[in-house]
Amino acid sequence: MRADLEEQARVWERMFFQTPQDRSLVERDWSWLVERLRREGVRTVLDVGFGPGHWSVALARAGFRVTAVDISSVAAARLRAWAEEEGLPIEVHVCPAQELPTDWAFDAVIANSVLDHMFKEEAEEAMRRIRAVLNPGGLLLLGMDGPPDAEDEAWPHHVFPDGTWQFLGGRKDRMLWRFWTEEEIVGLLTGFRIEGREVLPNGRRRFWARKIRG
Ligand SMILES: C[S@@+](CC[C@H](N)C(=O)[O-])C[C@H]1O[C@@H](n2cnc3c(N)ncnc32)[C@H](O)[C@@H]1O
Repeated sequence: MRADLEEQARVWERMFFQTPQDRSLVERDWSWLVERLRREGVRTVLDVGFGPGHWSVALARAGFRVTAVDISSVAAARLRAWAEEEGLPIEVHVCPAQELPTDWAFDAVIANSVLDHMFKEEAEEAMRRIRAVLNPGGLLLLGMDGPPDAEDEAWPHHVFPDGTWQFLGGRKDRMLWRFWTEEEIVGLLTGFRIEGREVLPNGRRRFWARKIRG
């Protein structure tokens, strides 16, 4: 199954971008991420589905060379403006995760709360592309949502055969969302060695995974 990417871009623009840009998230403590990437000798990072752009800005401020992709041209325009204001050389592209160019190469990839907003086979294709753009031994930080909460359960939604939900009506109208089980995530990370797994207080899961050579 394939998402209507134009429709999904509008969904996210409605969610995030109808109000003035919230830049406050960049002021969080990012040392856990920055220190890990520095320890690994990472220089280049790809931020997949950057949304408001705070991950990209935090990493660029810390001196990493950041490339950022999202399906939303509104998000791209906002991140370009933010980077320009701060004099940060972030390379911003409107590009779906499942169409990452095969000639790109990065030491690390961040994909936070993005692969759970597409159909299963699209996420699998996106992960193949992510693996392809990672340098040998490169690191992936994958953030996946937790199980549906009471609000999600109560929100009118359609369930597709692959288990993907599409919310209907209100703020989340037409948003795709899929809950990935642990077993499915392990399958998604084929070709990676999982080196860390953390469940955040809000139930979201964070995986560190290293591309296995070959
Ligand atoms: C929940 S937000 C996450 C934003 C950011 N990564 C964060 O952690 O705050 C999901 C983002 O993924 C983007 N997105 C959705 N489908 C995508 C796709 N197929 N390829 C790339 N980006 C996508 C949306 O436009 C939105 O900005």
